[in-house]
Amino acid sequence: MRLSQWLSRPGTPLSMAQPRFVTRLELLIYTLIETRKKLMSVNALAIVLTVAVNIAAAAPSFSRDIQPILQKKCQGCHQPASKMSGLDLTTFDGFSKGGKRGPAFVTDRPDESVVVRYLTAALQPRMPLGEAPLPESEIALVRDWIRDGAKNDSVAETTELRTPVYLQPPVITGSVFRPTVLKLPSPATARS
Ligand code: HEC
Repeated sequence: MRLSQWLSRPGTPLSMAQPRFVTRLELLIYTLIETRKKLMSVNALAIVLTVAVNIAAAAPSFSRDIQPILQKKCQGCHQPASKMSGLDLTTFDGFSKGGKRGPAFVTDRPDESVVVRYLTAALQPRMPLGEAPLPESEIALVRDWIRDGAKNDSVAETTELRTPVYLQPPVITGSVFRPTVLKLPSPATARS
């Protein structure tokens, strides 16, 4: 196989190029191109993996990373029954609303955020009050979460009780259908 033929069929591996048809120079070119192709695919894979790992590492989630810290280290003092300094850390809304000093965080600006300033002792007393400071890794999570937009991905809490309203009778198969036993409420009764 000649170089021109081989180049016009990009998928052909080097092993298919028969050495008796090629010059030494052609063989060298084949080898260079093949090696380059392999290196490129390895590089591409490495880049994809690096990007994937960075994305995973760069975006802390409120429910997965932040809430557990608040639960374990902060809610003893910052919860509805004991809102120290007016701050309730049991919900995203409470966290966002903040306490006496206003919102606990400023979206995108960790260094201006009251919570980060208390965690790093830029504001005194350092939080969690009376406990060991949070490990650097946990402070970094809070910081990065705020920097990345402070998104709330926690499941919506709802206290609303929903009673199902049936507007049509359910479909019942023949074997279970017993007209004498089955008394369906009319939609008006079911709603009240
Ligand atoms: C032992 C009780 C206690 C614990 C635990 C605690 N705090 Fe506090 N927190 C306080 C008190 C008391 C204040 C008021 C401090 C002051 O102004 O002197 C406060 C104030 C704050 C404020 C400022 C609120 C405002 O607007 O005035 C933030 C933010 C805060 N805490 C975050 C946290 C975080 C985050 C944690 C967990 C890592 C935590 N706290 C753990 C008692 C506690």
